[in-house]
Amino acid sequence: MKNEMRALIDKLISEHRLSTEEYEALLLGRDEETAAYLAAAAVSERDRLYGPKVFVRGLIEISNICKNDCNYCGIRRSNRSCERYRLTPEEIAACADEGYTLGFRTVVLQGGEDAFFTDEVLVNLVHAIKTEHPDMAVTLSLGERTRESYRKLREAGVDRYLLRHETANREHYRSLHPAEMDYDNRMRCLRDLKELGFQTGCGFMVGSPNQTMRHLAEDLSFIESFRPEMCGIGPFLPHHATPYADMPAGSAELTCYLLSILRLIHPALLLPATTALGTLHPQGRELGIRAGANVLMPNLSPVRVRKQYELYDNKICTGEESAQCLRCLEVRVQSVGCEIDRGRGDFLPEAPT
Ligand code: 5AD
Ligand code: FES
Repeated sequence: MKNEMRALIDKLISEHRLSTEEYEALLLGRDEETAAYLAAAAVSERDRLYGPKVFVRGLIEISNICKNDCNYCGIRRSNRSCERYRLTPEEIAACADEGYTLGFRTVVLQGGEDAFFTDEVLVNLVHAIKTEHPDMAVTLSLGERTRESYRKLREAGVDRYLLRHETANREHYRSLHPAEMDYDNRMRCLRDLKELGFQTGCGFMVGSPNQTMRHLAEDLSFIESFRPEMCGIGPFLPHHATPYADMPAGSAELTCYLLSILRLIHPALLLPATTALGTLHPQGRELGIRAGANVLMPNLSPVRVRKQYELYDNKICTGEESAQCLRCLEVRVQSVGCEIDRGRGDFLPEAPT
């Protein structure tokens, strides 16, 4: 390994921060040796704080109806070939019950920006889940909302909120989204979520169209200063009915390299090995865990709607029962020396650094 690369990594390990230029150099100069060195440090940090554990969250895809038209996303509103669905609050509560029975102590309700899910509908739904299962953490991932809306949801007992920032670079953000979507509003949402006391997750795609190493370095600087509790990253994967149908997919290797860097920036981060990573590479999620990830989000949605929540082509686990998925994941996690933890898997607030 070149001396400069080792020096950068050692600085990241001891100081948990680098300049944007240094992050860019760390990305540009990577090779197998640097990746292995980073991954070993990342795994040892994860194990020091959480043990060799992978937390599971049951993902319920509540609606694929969306008012937005993101260029990369298969459920964008202008995709006429997408068969739309929306689960009823009763169906969603039943999925949460099933998750509870399977041992999950956390569920993530994710969906497009669907106007049906008003504050009132969501507050009632969260109350129903929390009344039935007071020891279950509830995470929402339902896009941009007003501060007042987030406040009501937090008051209703929502523990966590996931909203990927998608890219920390304003011009790049503009290239990935239609004109009516606003980078500043996205960032406003993330700040509000954090201030309101949600465990907050941001994140980005790796290899999205027009992305440069400089952009990724800016994502790392953003995460360093924003200090989210969670960060979801996965490779960009093309969807056939979007403007990006013919764009190349992102790389598993770079995604894993970034996972290791993120672990070293904020050692206590909850970092999923994403379904997109598992879709790109048959052992993608295992590779993610070996790079320092510590969360998996198996699908709890009713099997009949799983194929319809198609953000990208060839998404895995759309035909399996949740119980089957969980068993499959158990084997995969054990194959890389970790154990599944079905507890709430909260962020460690007083993480020793
Ligand atoms: N490839 C990979 N990830 C995607 N997402 C949306 N579309 C794609 C795609 N084509 C990600 C976005 C979004 C999250 C729910 O899924 O980052 O925030
Ligand atoms: Fe779903 Fe393997 S994780 S089948």
